[in-house]
Amino acid sequence: MDFSRLETEIDGILANSNRALTKGGARERLQALCDWMRERVPHYDWFGFYVARKSEPLLDLGPFAGEQTEHVLIPFGRGICGQAAQSREIFLVDDVSAASNYLACSLKVKSEIVVPVMEPASGEVAGEIDIDSHTVAAFGSEDRAFLEELAAKVAADVAALRR
Ligand code: SME
Repeated sequence: MDFSRLETEIDGILANSNRALTKGGARERLQALCDWMRERVPHYDWFGFYVARKSEPLLDLGPFAGEQTEHVLIPFGRGICGQAAQSREIFLVDDVSAASNYLACSLKVKSEIVVPVMEPASGEVAGEIDIDSHTVAAFGSEDRAFLEELAAKVAADVAALRR
């Protein structure tokens, strides 16, 4: 997958300044990004955001594209999402059936990557990008590099959704 070809369109989606940096504007931009990413990248079967609470170690489900999930509120430390939030590092699972601390969304999901999004000002975890794939070991070093850059680009919008 040549992610460099996606940059211009991603920048276009995120530059949509309808309603600027309000919760509504941020939600709109991130939802558009989720829908577009899921459509554009074949191995991104579920693409979404979790948003960290300001004063509790909890993650709320944010905008997403893909199947509904029952995991709308995840404590730090629980599942792949909670572990990534706690460690503040990318969490990559090639085969979710072999992961012990994992919250299943759909039996179709085989691999997952979670990329923390940092608050631009303080450097604390504002939320994360969560992606599921129906293919085992779908994510590699190209995804990591691309998603790390994307996490920086969405940081202000993810931070705007924190409550
Ligand atoms: N599998 C995640 C839960 C979120 S869903 O993938 C949307 C986890 O283990 O944290």
